[in-house]
Amino acid sequence: MSEKIYAVPEAWRNEARVNAEKYDALYRRSVADPDGFWGEQAQRIEWIAPFTRVKEVSFDTHNVAIEWFGDGSTNIAMNCIDRHLPHRADQVAIIWEGDDPSLSRHITYRELHEQVCRFANVLKAHGVRKGDRVTIYLPMIPEAAYAMLACARIGAVHSVVFGGFSPDALAGRIEDAQSDVVITADEGVRGGRKSPLKDNVDAALEKVSAKTVIVVTRTGAKVDMKPGRDFRYEDEAKKVPEDCPYAEVGAEDPLFILYTSGSTGKPKGVLHTTGGYLVHAALTHELVFDYREGDVYWCTADVGWVTGHSYIVYGPLANGATTLMFEGVPNYPTVSRFWEVIDKHKVDIFYTAPTAIRALMGAGEEPVKKTSRKSIRLLGSVGEPINPEAWEWYHRVVGEGRCPIVDTWWQTETGGILIAPLPGATALKPGSATKPFFGVQPEIVDANGNVLEGACEGNLVIADSWPGQARTVFGDHERFVQTYFTAYPGKYFTGDGCRRDSDGYYWITGRVDDVINVSGHRLGTAEIESALVAHEKVAEAAVVGFPHAIKGQGIYAYVTLMGGVEASERLRKELVDFVRKEISAIASPDVIQFAPGLPKTRSGKIMRRILRKIAENEFGALGDTSTLADPSVVEDLIKNRPAG
Ligand code: PRX
Repeated sequence: MSEKIYAVPEAWRNEARVNAEKYDALYRRSVADPDGFWGEQAQRIEWIAPFTRVKEVSFDTHNVAIEWFGDGSTNIAMNCIDRHLPHRADQVAIIWEGDDPSLSRHITYRELHEQVCRFANVLKAHGVRKGDRVTIYLPMIPEAAYAMLACARIGAVHSVVFGGFSPDALAGRIEDAQSDVVITADEGVRGGRKSPLKDNVDAALEKVSAKTVIVVTRTGAKVDMKPGRDFRYEDEAKKVPEDCPYAEVGAEDPLFILYTSGSTGKPKGVLHTTGGYLVHAALTHELVFDYREGDVYWCTADVGWVTGHSYIVYGPLANGATTLMFEGVPNYPTVSRFWEVIDKHKVDIFYTAPTAIRALMGAGEEPVKKTSRKSIRLLGSVGEPINPEAWEWYHRVVGEGRCPIVDTWWQTETGGILIAPLPGATALKPGSATKPFFGVQPEIVDANGNVLEGACEGNLVIADSWPGQARTVFGDHERFVQTYFTAYPGKYFTGDGCRRDSDGYYWITGRVDDVINVSGHRLGTAEIESALVAHEKVAEAAVVGFPHAIKGQGIYAYVTLMGGVEASERLRKELVDFVRKEISAIASPDVIQFAPGLPKTRSGKIMRRILRKIAENEFGALGDTSTLADPSVVEDLIKNRPAG
């Protein structure tokens, strides 16, 4: 752990919206009087019917119910667009930077309004009504934001599925959300390569059904169009009126579902609602990134993840910001791409993931230093713990020592940032997400649920609700309660381990459940295991994470083959491809070890602790193996561990 401390730079202190004293006072108030604090903060958005109630929450395991601003109503698209038109119709809302560096577009708030209204009318024309679920499977093109906002405009619920997911993964999400409409593109383009999005939708719809597919043109590739089911967006848009009034939506009406992996079973459809989510996304976007009028703000995430929802689309647009949407990848056409885009669009605030920083760090300083980056004022990090070495490089090389770094800890379930520095208030420690945001009450508990005080390490829980919190798992409230509110009754369990130091700084140590974080992408080991055992030659599989220099964690799979099947290099490759096809390229195992047997207790439970140690190459630290049914299995695993 790094012991270095970076004080708040003087210029930041002097111009801080929130300085250290104000942070302390406001934080105390926010937790002592959540109704007062959040009731005031909620005035930052425009309501249709004002709320009279603020927080109505029960974390009681027998009755988990979360409501914020429950009797208010609003519309998110109105807040992100219409509200800004009187004074910023000609301001750029979205800068789109294509995969190909010669392509970019500037979309003003006026254009955004037109585009979103059209898209909303197309959805309406295809029968989409308030509360209906719409699946969005698009690349990073402006239409992804239009489609999300179009749903919000008419009160429909979007479920964005990352374009890198396979047809099978997409099918599961369409089915779970009971979504009749799917929005896709002919193809996606990333890093110079095309991906067959429409073909993937066709393959998914061989397994599950949807009434309507709307296809946006990205590359113009020829794709199959099934009459009566598939429609070209451009044709449909011509048929509808250009204005679409926004619907009145209850604060607790759903805004979106987003699927995320957990320890067990299939990915869960985390459900977020309207009023509290927007208040939280907008407030954190303004304060954590110190967003100021006129800034160009760039978050490099994909809209397929929660970061894209809250910090590319909803938070920035609610604040009337100019948000940059990037179609490409950090190393195409060259490893200078991020920094070139920063110079091209004069980006003030830049928010990315540790895995990208580590990969670019590997390419050395020259590709960074040959660019100017003088527009950059603030850097951000999200998605996984950032190792101090990567933090220092980001600070020294990318930020030239003058830009604070906000390391933001949060989750799909939290809707927005919960632990992060405020750049004008918080001294930074490389590798620490620092202090809780207003209204957030983190606690560290031991395995028995005792709340630990002072400097300590244990599991991270949040003692009370915040407005952006997920309300349920779509269609399965019991699973929501089981996953988050039973381990430590009365508290929200994050699934993360955490250390708190003597200055009250939080250091996330990683997941404590069977979830692994690969390049900031969250994957359940159970999900990858069930993909592997779906292969006809696999009898059993156990998957664990292991430290990976660039990805943070890599995927290590132990595979037992069916009787009579020979292990081979070819089969190894076949299994990697199989997982890729079943889930996504992001889930493909880095290492597959063929194992005649897995270490199990006498009751048949796989001892993952031992598998993790072997994957980490820490054979000396296997711990007690005496409870194993067959201890010789372990020797075999060690002896045959693939090199690397
Ligand atoms: O383990 C934590 C890690 O990512 C998990 C949440 O993943 P997801 O729901 O996909 O959302 C990612 C983007 C918000 C957390 O449980 N994580 C996220 N941010 C950080 C982090 N770990 C350490 N530091 C962070 N800043």
